[in-house]
This record gives sequence, structure tokens and C-alpha cells, in this order.
Amino acid sequence: MRRLLPLLLPLLAALSACEDQSMRRQARYEVYGKAPLFPDQAEARRPPEGTVEVGALSREAALRDPPPLDAALLERGRQRYDAICTPCHGYTGHGDGMVVQRGFPAPPSYHEDRLRAAPAAYFVDVITRGYGVMYAYADRVEPRDRWAIAAYIRALQLSQGARVAEAPDLAEKLP
Ligand code: HEC
Repeated sequence: MRRLLPLLLPLLAALSACEDQSMRRQARYEVYGKAPLFPDQAEARRPPEGTVEVGALSREAALRDPPPLDAALLERGRQRYDAICTPCHGYTGHGDGMVVQRGFPAPPSYHEDRLRAAPAAYFVDVITRGYGVMYAYADRVEPRDRWAIAAYIRALQLSQGARVAEAPDLAEKLP
């Protein structure tokens, strides 16, 4: 036996390495399962009172204070509007986007007097909280982009209601 021991030891070591040490086999709670450790037995815990999500304060500030209006902001607004809002509101904002043409509820035109008179903050608010059957886009459009889109909608409104005399550069170029 004494002679055999040096031979057996490496064999035993090799066998113990085969033991399944996966975390799947450890004691754990199932997602949304019962958790007897806590008084309410719920595995999913609520964040402690007063918890603030990372970035929440700066997002709140960005929502409150409009960014300065410049060409870059308008361009960003055009890009975001085209990507997110046009399926329903259409490229010119008449509420005739592609899904509307295929039976989706029609939004109002941005060119009606009521929406022409609405302040930019109103559009930011509709994006943030939704309106009627239109759901909120707060989780898809960052606060700064909401202001950018509002600025672009304003530009759309101007473009659809403008007279040639209001665009002197253009008046010169027209035949
Ligand atoms: C999936 C379709 C859809 C998309 C995408 C969509 N909307 Fe709308 N929107 C609607 C509909 C429908 C209404 C009308 C809701 C009602 O009156 O119940 C509406 C209404 C509005 C109004 C008018 C609110 C009023 O006072 O009448 C604004 C402003 C608006 N949307 C802005 C936006 C902007 C900005 C985006 C892009 C970030 C957007 N919407 C994306 C469908 C959409």
C-alpha cells in the first residue's frame, strides 16, 4: 500500500477537479421568486428610499434649461425627428406619416394654429410624457434631443407657412 500511495494521490487530485463547481448549483433565489430572508419574502428588492438614478439630476437640468439654438442643434433635431417622429407625423409634419397611411391613428398637423402658437416647451413636454394615444418617448429621446426636435418642428412650421418675401435669398433665385 505504501508503494501505491504516490500513484494514487495524483489520481485522487484529478478526480476532485472534476467536481462541478458551477454557480448554478449553489443555493440562490430565483428571479422574482420567494426569498424567506426578507420580511416580505420578495426576491426583487426596491431601491432604498431617496435613491437617485445615475445621471437623473443632469437629465432633469437638461430638461429644464433649453440648450442654445444654433445650426448644430437644428441639424441634430432634424436627424432625430426624421428617425423617430416621421413614421406618424410625416417629414413635413402634416400628420401623414407612413404608418398613418396604413391605418394608424392620425396625429394633428403641426401647422394648425393651436400648435403653431404652442411654445417649444410644449413639444418637449409631449415627447416627455406622451399625449392622448401617443405614448411617451422619454426613454428613447434624451432631454437635449427633445429640445433639438422642438427647434426643428419650429423650423418646419416656419417653412410651411413662409412667404417668398420672408426668404429674400430665395426670392432672388426664383425666376
Ligand atoms: C407611433 C406614432 C407616433 C410617433 C412615432 C410620434 N407621435 Fe406624436 N402623436 C401621435 C398621435 C396619434 C398623436 C395624437 C394623439 C391624440 O390626440 O390622442 C400625436 C400627437 C402629437 C403632438 C400634438 C399634441 C397636441 O397638443 O395635439 C405633438 C406635438 C407630437 N405628437 C409630437 C411628437 C414628436 C416630437 C415625436 C417624435 C419624438 C412624435 N410625436 C412621435 C403619434 C405619434
